[in-house]
Amino acid sequence: MAAFLHSSARVVMMAFMALMLAVVSARPGAMRTLPRSIPVPSEDPFYQPPAGFESKAPGAILRQRNVSTAFLGFIEDPVTAYQLLYRTTAINGSAIATVTTIFVPSFPKTDRFVSFHTAYDSSATICNPSYNYRLGAEQADIISSAEQLILQMYLQLGYITVSPDYEGPEAAFGAGHLAGMGVLDSMRAVSNFKTLGLSSVEPMIVGLGYSGGAIATGWAASLHPTYAPELDIKGWIQGGTPANLTGTLSFSDDTPFSGFMLPAIVGMSMPSAYGAKLTPILNRILTDKGRKILDTARTTCGVEELLTYSDLSVLSTDFQTLGDRMFYEPTIRSVMSKNMLGVNKTETPTAPVFVYHATQDEVIPYSNASLMVDSWCHNGASVKFTSFANGGHATTEMIALPDVIDFVKAAFAGTTASGCTKNTELDNLLNPLALGVDLEPILVNLIQVLAHLGKRDSNVEQNLEVLTDVVTE
Ligand SMILES: *[C@@H]1O[C@H](CO)[C@@H](O)[C@H](O)[C@H]1NC(C)=O
Ligand SMILES: *[C@@H]1O[C@H](CO)[C@@H](O)[C@H](O)[C@H]1NC(C)=O
Ligand SMILES: *[C@@H]1O[C@H](CO)[C@@H](O)[C@H](O)[C@H]1NC(C)=O
Ligand SMILES: *[C@@H]1O[C@H](CO)[C@@H](O)[C@H](O)[C@H]1NC(C)=O
Ligand SMILES: *[C@@H]1O[C@H](CO)[C@@H](O)[C@H](O)[C@H]1NC(C)=O
Repeated sequence: MAAFLHSSARVVMMAFMALMLAVVSARPGAMRTLPRSIPVPSEDPFYQPPAGFESKAPGAILRQRNVSTAFLGFIEDPVTAYQLLYRTTAINGSAIATVTTIFVPSFPKTDRFVSFHTAYDSSATICNPSYNYRLGAEQADIISSAEQLILQMYLQLGYITVSPDYEGPEAAFGAGHLAGMGVLDSMRAVSNFKTLGLSSVEPMIVGLGYSGGAIATGWAASLHPTYAPELDIKGWIQGGTPANLTGTLSFSDDTPFSGFMLPAIVGMSMPSAYGAKLTPILNRILTDKGRKILDTARTTCGVEELLTYSDLSVLSTDFQTLGDRMFYEPTIRSVMSKNMLGVNKTETPTAPVFVYHATQDEVIPYSNASLMVDSWCHNGASVKFTSFANGGHATTEMIALPDVIDFVKAAFAGTTASGCTKNTELDNLLNPLALGVDLEPILVNLIQVLAHLGKRDSNVEQNLEVLTDVVTE
């Protein structure tokens, strides 16, 4: 056990150093230079569902394989891992298939698993986590590379941890119901996967995600009671939640984060999402410049968009002819309103939820998330809502980790409070001691370094400089 922990800690540390170097050198295109030795999803037959899959039940396993995973595509992770292609459901109710990756620690608890919804925030399938996690993958999505290190914490705690490509086969980023069903059907597929030797047909599950990953988590929590009520979900954890997509997109327009609007618009207009409704309108209103820029989001990942299109205004007539009235066009408005969490009473989570958000979040509006919490509480949900008063969007993911781990443990133990509670925390750095002795010191160090980013989340360039200093210190 000790030897395993030791070597695994070294792997994580090496991965961390390499990740920091990659972050520091991240410039548009920079992540694409590493060699690639496995096929990308669009060329990999594993992603193609077999004939007749439409008649299978949601969550049915269509294909399975063993995979080698790695940090950044080349630092091999010694963990056992599998991938499943499973049947799930598009926005219009038709059958689609997507992939989930299952990580199994050395001494797994077999009565439960964690569903980890990484924030891949992209509308190109090369950014799928199932691809990004594999040994030999060209590294295209740096967010899920960073979150892969957080995922290690759940493995260290003995949880089987699964990470679905919840945006589905077309990377339909932003489509809440599609992501929610993608998460729930991944849980069904994993529960059905005999190789894991799970001790129950309905294992206990906790689902969690931050930022883009909270879209998947919030919608899975909302759809669980009606779409997959048989799943024994013990709790949900979502931070930095984009509860209202209109609010999020207007908030980020013409800011350092405006690049995230592109995969959202492209993702929402995929055929498996709202393409039938949105594509005709986009074709009518996009300018040549707008169309050209949007097209880049079909082949590149979120962070690259972010670095390339900082301070872009999608809500200007330069980009599309409706200007700042774009979200009020009746069809766009009705699609956007279906993607607001907490509006439909039938979509209220029944398992306990931990929601956390930075009051000064500069990417995802706090007020929208807080309204979602109020509405869920009004409709009878059990929600613990923590406001972080001294962090920005990126730092709060790290600062909140001890609370997140505590909630995971409490949810599995069935000891979370019922009803709604709210509190405010003032920390602006992660206290490593708060993570407890069962997590590796090395891992704690790396999280602490990430937390060094400070409160200046909104300045990407400045953060890269801070990281350079930390790494070369
Ligand atoms: C995949 O892994 C399982 C269990 O870990 C093993 O029994 C099986 O032989 C492996 N299959 C292949 C093709 O390597
Ligand atoms: C969502 O945000 C939009 C724009 O910021 C706002 O007009 C609308 O009232 C919000 N809706 C909800 C349900 O929060
Ligand atoms: C949602 O966030 C947007 C952007 O900050 C804000 O304009 C809007 O008022 C918020 N809506 C609600 C209902 O809080
Ligand atoms: C319904 O969804 C399927 C699966 O994504 C898609 O191929 C089809 O175009 C959609 N049909 C309509 C009318 O939206
Ligand atoms: C509310 O949610 C339920 C369950 O997802 C769905 O069947 C119903 O159509 C939704 N209502 C509206 C008005 O969207």
